[in-house]
Amino acid sequence: MFLTKLSVLATLLALASAQFSPNYKDGRNGMVHLFEWKWDDIAAECENFLGPYGFAGLQVSPVNENAVIGGRPWWERYQPISYKLTTRSGNEQQFASMVKRCNAVGVRTYVDVVFNHMSANGNSRGTAGSQADPGSKSFPAVPFSTLDFNPTCSITNYNDPKNIRNCELVGLRDLNQGNSWVRDKIVDFLNHLVDLGVAGFRVDAAKHMWPADLAVIYGRVKNLNTAHGFNAGAKPYIFQEVIDLGGEAISKSEYTGLGAVTEFRHSDSIGKVFRGKDQLRYLVNWGTAWGFAASDRSLVFVDNHDNQRGHGAGGADVLTYKVPKQYKMASAFMLAHPFGTPRVMSSFAFSDTDQGPPTSDGSNIASPRFNSDMSCNNGWVCEHRWRQIYNMVGFRNAAANAQLQNWWDNGKNQIAFSRGNRAFVAFNNDGYDLSSSLQTGLPAGTYCDVISGSKSGSSCTGKSVVVGSDGRANISIRQNEQDGVLAIHVNAKL
Ligand SMILES: *[C@@H]1O[C@H](CO)[C@@H](O)[C@H](O)[C@H]1NC(C)=O
Repeated sequence: MFLTKLSVLATLLALASAQFSPNYKDGRNGMVHLFEWKWDDIAAECENFLGPYGFAGLQVSPVNENAVIGGRPWWERYQPISYKLTTRSGNEQQFASMVKRCNAVGVRTYVDVVFNHMSANGNSRGTAGSQADPGSKSFPAVPFSTLDFNPTCSITNYNDPKNIRNCELVGLRDLNQGNSWVRDKIVDFLNHLVDLGVAGFRVDAAKHMWPADLAVIYGRVKNLNTAHGFNAGAKPYIFQEVIDLGGEAISKSEYTGLGAVTEFRHSDSIGKVFRGKDQLRYLVNWGTAWGFAASDRSLVFVDNHDNQRGHGAGGADVLTYKVPKQYKMASAFMLAHPFGTPRVMSSFAFSDTDQGPPTSDGSNIASPRFNSDMSCNNGWVCEHRWRQIYNMVGFRNAAANAQLQNWWDNGKNQIAFSRGNRAFVAFNNDGYDLSSSLQTGLPAGTYCDVISGSKSGSSCTGKSVVVGSDGRANISIRQNEQDGVLAIHVNAKL
């Protein structure tokens, strides 16, 4: 009874301080996950690209020391050795400088934090040079010892919350977040990142931790650092990795009182729709009617670093950069629609699902290089530098808080809608042309379609769209066009 009251109290305290706002700067929207990028490269990307193109935030790969694993797979970064901020992406000084430079151009940083577990048995040397002995649960660079972990057992039963939360995920040593020393170390780590100017956290493997423990930990994290331009009293934005596609014991609703969750159903559903397994007209009620968490509790994405390579959850329907036409359509829909906090994936090219980022020498991560059309090479895909994606970040900024209006569909796979009188988008996923006079909601004038081109001075490098005095325009998307989307907005008026 007493314990129950205590945990209710802890939950209430966390609710009182919970933060569901991403802390974006006014006028900016859209986050990008720069998966496995180096800190110096991200700092330059903020200044040269993300800032100028209106991005509001970026998610980085884990910042703390991880196990060095043979062949350097990407997932070694999810095997912590300590909370020292040295990884293949750079050291603490480089990370601190990156956060500062990104904040200075209006782009917020969200850190992927891994504190459900430490490294698995056998992986003993870290990227900061620390030694550990996962076999005996000894991580002296924190320090953690066997007292700080749950007894060894394997996760085998996703119908049993105790098994999911108290046992080891693929052999990863399972920290006991109910232990006060463990809580102190995690809170110190998060507060150190807040001091450095980050705006929030992606909490890895949140489903594998007890919500009541997370409530205590989140409740002890400091307010954001006002020296980096955050409002006094602002709390970190927290989005928790909770894979809930239904049919398991653990539900995302256990976590949505504490922060946002990574809404995997959004990824699954948007993939099915744009792969043609569901009709576009059904998107008319996109949101909680599809089983998603509330808009401000949903971090939404087309794909993430796990499910784009078949890891974690999400089946064959997840769209990735390997299916570019449908991927761009799904991304454009996500960015045009007001639902959720969208995150764009930015990948490196891979053929093997364990393969790590491009390197110069098998070990040091290579920097992206850029083509004249701003796209990347040198092993990096950089979906965020695809015109059809970064121009939709511009669309989202132009749409701001305007409501979804003027929904139209052809009863099948051609749809269109406006965001108030600020922006208008149309999609054609049918095997024939879209050619219709549609209500755009926009003021009369000529607009640049930001999918087929960009506004350049007073002209457009792609299609132009004439909106009449009644707000209607003749919209055409031929079935064989490179992109199945057309998008116009007030900031792309000619
Ligand atoms: C749309 O096309 C019709 C038929 O060609 C034309 O009469 C009308 O002026 C066009 N509307 C706009 C806004 O350009």
